[in-house]
This record gives sequence, C-alpha cells and structure tokens, in this order.
Amino acid sequence: MKALILGSKGSLGQEFLELYGNSALGWDREQVDITDEAGITAKIAEAKPEMVINCAAYNDVDGAEENRSAAENINGYAVGFVAKACNGLGIPLVHFSTNYVFDGGKQEGYNEDDIPNPRSAYGKSKLLGEIELQKNTDKFYLIRTAWLYGKPGMKKSFVEVMLTLGQKGQPIEAIEDEFASPTYTKDLAEAVAALVKIDKPFGIYHLTNAGFTSWYDWAKEIFAIKNIEVNVSAVEAQKFAGKRKAARPKYGILNNTKFIELRPWAEALKEYLET
Ligand SMILES: NC(=O)c1ccc[n+]([C@@H]2O[C@H](COP(=O)([O-])OP(=O)(O)OC[C@H]3O[C@@H](n4cnc5c(N)ncnc54)[C@H](OP(=O)(O)O)[C@@H]3O)[C@@H](O)[C@H]2O)c1
Repeated sequence: MKALILGSKGSLGQEFLELYGNSALGWDREQVDITDEAGITAKIAEAKPEMVINCAAYNDVDGAEENRSAAENINGYAVGFVAKACNGLGIPLVHFSTNYVFDGGKQEGYNEDDIPNPRSAYGKSKLLGEIELQKNTDKFYLIRTAWLYGKPGMKKSFVEVMLTLGQKGQPIEAIEDEFASPTYTKDLAEAVAALVKIDKPFGIYHLTNAGFTSWYDWAKEIFAIKNIEVNVSAVEAQKFAGKRKAARPKYGILNNTKFIELRPWAEALKEYLET
C-alpha cells in the first residue's frame, strides 16, 4: 500500500511515516499547502498514491478563536480539496477529527453517530472538515480522536508541557472537571493501519486509548511514572476561563463501538514515558 501522508512532520504524521516506512511518502507544508486546491490536486494526481492519510491540521485550539479563517481553511475547506482529489483517483482518504466537535454534555460519552455540536472555533472548523470530507468522497475513514501525545510536533502536547513545568519544580494547577482519553499517537497510527488493512467499511470511527481521565489525574500519572515530585492541585475549569480563550467539552469521551479497543491510556502513557 503506497500511502501519502499529509502533515508528515506533525506528531501523528511522524508515526505513520515510521509505520509505513519505505512504502510511504510524507509531505508537510514545505512540499504542499493543502489550502491550495490546484496545487494539492495536481500533486496528489502526480504522486499516484493508493491511499492518502491527512494528518495536516490547524491545532491551536485557543488561537483558532482569533484566527477563525486560518482554522476554517486548513481544518475545513482544504479537507474538501483533498477528498475531491482522492475521489477523482478512486482512492481512500483517512482523515482525523476531534472530540471537540461535541459539546461535552453527555457524561456517558459520544458514539460515532451522535450529532456534533462544537463549542469552539477549532471544533467548528473540524466539523466543517467532517462535512467537506463526506460531501466530496464516499471512500473515507473519518477517525475522531482526543488528547494526543507522542513524537514532538510543532505544538507541545500536554505531556510535554507537564514535564517542562515539572522540571521547574513549581506548583501546578490542573483541571479536575474536564474528561477525555489521553491517546498515544503510536497506538492510534497502529490501530488505523489495522483498520485500513482489514478493509473495515468506510465511515466514522472513534479511536482513543481505553478509559478516560481528567487533566488533573493525567498530570498526576505523568509525574508518578517519571518519579518527579511536584505539587499538583486540582482546580475547576472555570479557574482557567481567562487563560483559555476556547471552551472545551466537559465530557469529551469518545465511545468506540465499531473497532477493537486500544490498550488502557495509563499503560500506553507508561510505555511512552519509559522509552
Ligand atoms: N493534538 C491533539 O491533541 C489532537 C486531538 C484530537 C484530534 N487531533 C487531530 O489529529 C490530527 C493530527 O494532529 P497532530 O497533533 O499530529 O497535529 P500537529 O502535530 O499539529 O501536526 C500538523 C501538521 O500539519 C501541518 N500543516 C498545517 N497546516 C498545513 C497546510 N496548510 N498545509 C500543509 N501542512 C500543514 C503542520 O505544519 P506547521 O507546523 O508548519 O503548521 C504540522 O506539521 C489532526 O487532524 C488533529 O486535528 C489532534
């Protein structure tokens, strides 16, 4: 399977590039800007991949509140351009979305067919991408995921932020009333590769490491595994309202009802931090 990976320098893109090895082609912004419809269409046609995996995204959740058009163009309309190009070649497109397309009011978590209702500009831009994807091709795997960490990309993951703060030794406040599933990009990439390999039907999938936690308990787990002594105190999301421009879902839990369960989030985190 010759896979073309877009956003190949990002955290998830790097995992796919490593996983597919020689059979993959990786492009990031320097090779092609996915918001350039003519450019991306011509380049995909020229590369003749058997599948495209789109990991490119505008991922600054708070920044999107002020840069709505950049978020809409990259996360929304560009997805339509890539989908149209793939449709023209008759090849499948794997695309990623987020738990932030949901409003977070559903404590028991969201199933794949639940109706999105994003609360932030980032969430709205990712939902636009979901719509553009489905409008332009039927051969899609739309993978919603959450709270990624793994190989460092441009944006620091929560794990990296905590480790940096922890090394400074200062007390940390972490939110105790927002919940989701921390997800290791290596596990996600492997699960997606397996899903594609066995030709699961096209459609929407929810893939995260199993179980869920709060930012507070996630932070505590990171420091426990790394044996770093830090004073972490639990605060309510409300306390961060001034610091975080975007609203986040309170319960951003994605129920995976269609594919095999990934390993528990704390087990994956341990492997990541110990290797
Ligand atoms: N990170 C999370 O916690 C999280 C949670 C849920 C879902 N997701 C989704 O999972 C996917 C992968 O996320 P990630 O964390 O691996 O992303 P990432 O590390 O931010 O990587 C995204 C990559 O896309 C590139 N890119 C951005 N705009 C582009 C453009 N116009 N043309 C070409 N390349 C462009 C970026 O380059 P620059 O650095 O130059 O911009 C970057 O290398 C995304 O769809 C994301 O929305 C992420």
